[in-house]
Amino acid sequence: MLYIPFNRPVTVGKEFEYIQQTIENMDLSGDGAITKKCHAFLEQILRVPKVLLTTSCTDALEMTALLLDIKPGDEVIVPSFTFVSTVNAFVLHGARPIFIDIRPDTLNLDESKLEKLISPQTKAIVPVHYAGVGCEMDAIMEIAGRYGIPVVEDNAHGLFGKYKGKYLGTFGCLATQSFHETKNFTCGEGGALLINDLQYIERAEIIREKGTNRSRFYRGQVDKYTWVDVGSSYLPSGIVAAFLYAQLEAWEQIQTKRRQIWEYYYENLQDWAEENDIRLPIVPAHCEQAYHMFYLLMPSLEKRQALIEHLKADNISSVFHYLPLHMSYMGRKFGGAEGDCPVTENVSDRLLRLPFYNDITEVDQARVVAALKDFHLGETEIS
Ligand SMILES: Cc1ncc(COP(=O)(O)O)c(C=O)c1O
Repeated sequence: MLYIPFNRPVTVGKEFEYIQQTIENMDLSGDGAITKKCHAFLEQILRVPKVLLTTSCTDALEMTALLLDIKPGDEVIVPSFTFVSTVNAFVLHGARPIFIDIRPDTLNLDESKLEKLISPQTKAIVPVHYAGVGCEMDAIMEIAGRYGIPVVEDNAHGLFGKYKGKYLGTFGCLATQSFHETKNFTCGEGGALLINDLQYIERAEIIREKGTNRSRFYRGQVDKYTWVDVGSSYLPSGIVAAFLYAQLEAWEQIQTKRRQIWEYYYENLQDWAEENDIRLPIVPAHCEQAYHMFYLLMPSLEKRQALIEHLKADNISSVFHYLPLHMSYMGRKFGGAEGDCPVTENVSDRLLRLPFYNDITEVDQARVVAALKDFHLGETEIS
């Protein structure tokens, strides 16, 4: 039986053409014509004042830490149920992570727990739109606004998802995207910084260009460029942007396909899940999700592990997701301990992600569904 991977990056057709053009035009370094096309495309659709491509979402997050002048002693509120970069970007600059638990339904930061974690040292709140389903942004923005704390949305999963009709990534003063090969739209490794608060634009351009005012120089606003601030090199090559532009241009086609994939799993697994005490993803009515992933919440860790093995025997790859960051080696160094975020700890043990990529066929999805239904939930031992 052919192998069904958990993920595989897929081209949409124009990647090679755009890369060839980019090479012919010698538009190789960052911020040439094709990079600007990506910026304009995202700015126009999302209605974001400024988008800057970066070399990864991790780097975009690191830029937000620099823009917010994060320094030792500052605190940043982050979900424990996230990728390490959400936290590391701020810890790199000396911040102490304050881990917040998640809601049991969307697995997003639990806004009801937010206010009591705020202290005079809190310098940022970083909601992660898990699986491309929006966090409760009204409540989060209201609390953050009352305390004057910047909100940085980690929207690695959520490009083109919406909360109450507004695109994810357009709520916080800053937001970040990922174009890693596991995401809906990819260029292998890549990301973007979305700037919604105009006060950060000029400094973001400087930080991204090694601390120089090169962007102003290229626009003819200064006659030479020089070192004006701290910074690093966060801009991708034109070749990478060319690949990405082809993917972005096909955004509606990609999202339509991903919606079909998600709905196929949902419709075909609903009854089975209900009968077997397995929870499928919950998407609140006011959220238009980004169709980034499909997961199951199994009744227990043992059953999740047994199901991974069962699918593996059918040549199907399935994976768990985040391990709680507060209980990691680094998290414990910051005082994290078992029991701090009970929902995170429970979900992390039980969550299983199914194969999901842009060209998975219905035949392969049917094979995944059949293999799942063939799994005997009474058995917990790994076969
Ligand atoms: C929530 C979240 N934030 C950030 C990242 C990092 O993205 P990148 O690989 O583009 O740096 C990931 C990676 O998957 C992620 O899941």
